Amino acid sequence: MARVGRLEGKVCVITGTGGSMGRAAALMFAREGAKIVGCDISVDAAEETVAEVRNAGGEMVSLQPCDLTQREHCQSLVALALNTYGWIDVLFNNAAMAWFAPIDTISDEQWYKTIDQELHLVFEMVRAAWPELTKRSGSIINTASVSAWSTYRVLPALAHSAAKGAVVSLTRQLALEGRAHGLRANSISPGLIETNQTRPLLSNPEWSDPMLGKIMLGRMGRPEEVAATALFLASDESSFITGADIRVDGGTTAW
Ligand SMILES: NC(=O)c1ccc[n+]([C@@H]2O[C@H](COP(=O)([O-])OP(=O)(O)OC[C@H]3O[C@@H](n4cnc5c(N)ncnc54)[C@H](O)[C@@H]3O)[C@@H](O)[C@H]2O)c1
Repeated sequence: MARVGRLEGKVCVITGTGGSMGRAAALMFAREGAKIVGCDISVDAAEETVAEVRNAGGEMVSLQPCDLTQREHCQSLVALALNTYGWIDVLFNNAAMAWFAPIDTISDEQWYKTIDQELHLVFEMVRAAWPELTKRSGSIINTASVSAWSTYRVLPALAHSAAKGAVVSLTRQLALEGRAHGLRANSISPGLIETNQTRPLLSNPEWSDPMLGKIMLGRMGRPEEVAATALFLASDESSFITGADIRVDGGTTAW
C-alpha cells in the first residue's frame, strides 16, 4: 500500500520555527508531506531549521528576522506563503516570549511586553492569514499553556497566565467566526516542556522540584510531544474538532 503523508500537499505556516517546539513541528509536519512556511525573530536559529528540514528531504521557506508583533511582518509572512506555494491551509501560532514577575514588582514593560509577545502577535497573525485560511477551510492552532488553567507555586506567571488565558478564549471565538467557512480553530496547552526557555531553570532545585512535582507522569514533556498534537490538529484526522483546547501536560492539571 502506498503511504500518503498525513499533511500531504498542505501549506502550513508555523511561527517561531527557530525555537524548540517550532523546529520540532517544522520537521514533523514536513515529514508528513507539508510545505512549511516558517519564521522567527532569531535569524540564525530560523535558518538552522530550514537547513534541517531540507536536509531531511522536506520543503520549507522561512522569513527572518520576522517580528510577529509588527502587522507588516505578519503580512510579509502571508505574502511569502502565497508567492511560494499559492495558498495557506494551516496556521500554527507557536512563537511567544514571556516575562515573569508578581503583582507587587511587575514593571509596565514586563506586563506589556508579555501581552504583546504572547497575545497580540497571535491576533495579528490570525488577522493577516484569515482571508487565505477561510478560502481553504483551514486549521488554526494557537499555543496556550497550562498557565491558562492552573498555577505553579514558584512561577510568578501573572502576565503569562493572563495572555495565555486570552489565547484560549480568543481561539474559541475564532472557531465560532470560522465555522461558516469550514475553518477550525483549536488551542494546545502545553505543560512544562524541556525547551530553550525552560532548560536553564532546571539546574535550580528550588524551582525544578515543585515544578516537576506537579506533573502526574513525573517528567517534563518533549517538544515533539507538543508538535505531534499540533500535527493531529493540522490534519484532517481532527476534522470534527474545533473550539477545543488540548492539554499536553503529563496530567499536570488533572490532579
Ligand atoms: N516550554 C514550555 O514549558 C512551555 C509551556 C507552555 C507553553 N509554552 C509555549 O510554547 C510555545 C513555544 O515555546 P518554546 O518553549 O518552544 O520556546 P522557544 O523559545 O524555544 O521558541 C519560541 C520561538 O519563538 C520566537 N519568537 C518569540 N517572539 C517572537 C516574535 N515576536 N516574532 C517572531 N518570533 C518570535 C523565538 O525567537 C523562539 O525561537 C510558546 O508559545 C510558549 O509560550 C511553552
